[in-house]
Amino acid sequence: MKNRVILGIVVGVSCLAAWNPPFQYPDHWPAPQYAFEHNAIDSLKRELGRALFYDPILSADSTVSCASCHSPYQSFAHTDHAVSHGINDQLGNRNAPVLINLAWQRQLMHDGAIAFFDFQPLAPITHPKEMGEDLRHVLIKLNRQPRYQRELFAIYQDSTMTSERLLKCMSQFLLSLVSADSKYDQVQGGVLSFTEQEQSGYRVFQAHCARCHTPPMFTNYAFANNGISVDPMYQDSGRYKISHQAQDVFRFKVPTLRNIEFSYPYMHDGRYATLREVLQHYSRDYHSNEGAADVSLPLSFSEKEETDLLAFLLTLSEPAFNFKKENQFPRAFFQR
Ligand code: HEC
Ligand code: HEC
Repeated sequence: MKNRVILGIVVGVSCLAAWNPPFQYPDHWPAPQYAFEHNAIDSLKRELGRALFYDPILSADSTVSCASCHSPYQSFAHTDHAVSHGINDQLGNRNAPVLINLAWQRQLMHDGAIAFFDFQPLAPITHPKEMGEDLRHVLIKLNRQPRYQRELFAIYQDSTMTSERLLKCMSQFLLSLVSADSKYDQVQGGVLSFTEQEQSGYRVFQAHCARCHTPPMFTNYAFANNGISVDPMYQDSGRYKISHQAQDVFRFKVPTLRNIEFSYPYMHDGRYATLREVLQHYSRDYHSNEGAADVSLPLSFSEKEETDLLAFLLTLSEPAFNFKKENQFPRAFFQR
């Protein structure tokens, strides 16, 4: 099932805020990858998935929820730690990415380890350094809670939480996190125009960045080696871990640059605190990372062009996305 609705970009205001129908995206975007025919969008299921996303009951000691690492105010990235921070204050070895426009992804995680969308929550739930739980025990805990029993009954006319229901409802919430109303989108829709500086930055972007961070999703969904040096602490070989193909050593999934302003720190290990540092990596500080980089660095742009590029990257932000009530902690559900 596909709900193609021309967004507010055309009329200048975001109609994504109106939560009906629950899955909307601009007409000029490619078709999503997710198989909606097996999990048709339903607003009650989406709301149940939202409650699960914010509920620390999914972790072994009920201290960590998905939102602990994926904050709605940062486009669902995690900004107070370079790498993830799970139960018992344990640190993982990767930076939590934004959770936006996930329905278009073919593979999840920095190395594409997860190809089947609905199984994604199992990874953090069972990861000993993230939530440290097991699914069977999560289901036992959830089945003791009247608030879940009530919602389940309203949806399925049966109040039992099953693994399939849990995973499909969580997918519904994740899939609904669509961000498509940045200044860039409004410029494309003819509602706003770029400043001279943003326009110049756009040209630099098209020349040097768009081949991997391809509009309109600002990723080509490929795995690439962007020339960052190997971190001696994590020695993360990226896509190679999954594919075992020599050419994939140090390749990581090309991340979207939408809402990049909010998702610092940057790269799979959060090594760069600011966008300036990222741009200087591409334009100046080239340290070979042993593998063959898929981009020949340094890229040649001047200091002025670097500042223009930064101005362009900021047009990819949709600040209103971070404050959408329908994505935030569902207080009413937990008060019931
Ligand atoms: C302890 C921190 C932490 C918790 C808790 C956590 N995540 Fe994540 N999340 C991460 C990190 C780090 C990654 C990147 C992992 C990798 O590449 O191996 C990630 C990746 C993801 C991705 C893939 C995004 C992409 O673009 O590939 C999704 C989806 C996601 N998490 C959803 C969830 C859900 C749902 C939960 C709760 C069940 C959750 N996360 C709990 C840290 C966390
Ligand atoms: C050869 C493909 C390629 C090109 C060209 C490229 N990038 Fe990247 N970029 C990547 C990959 C891959 C990553 C993720 C690396 C990682 O996770 O460690 C990345 C990461 C980033 C990040 C951090 C994103 C995040 O969420 O942490 C930013 C910002 C960025 N690139 C901007 C740019 C800009 C600006 C240009 C042009 C000057 C550019 N990139 C050119 C492949 C590319």
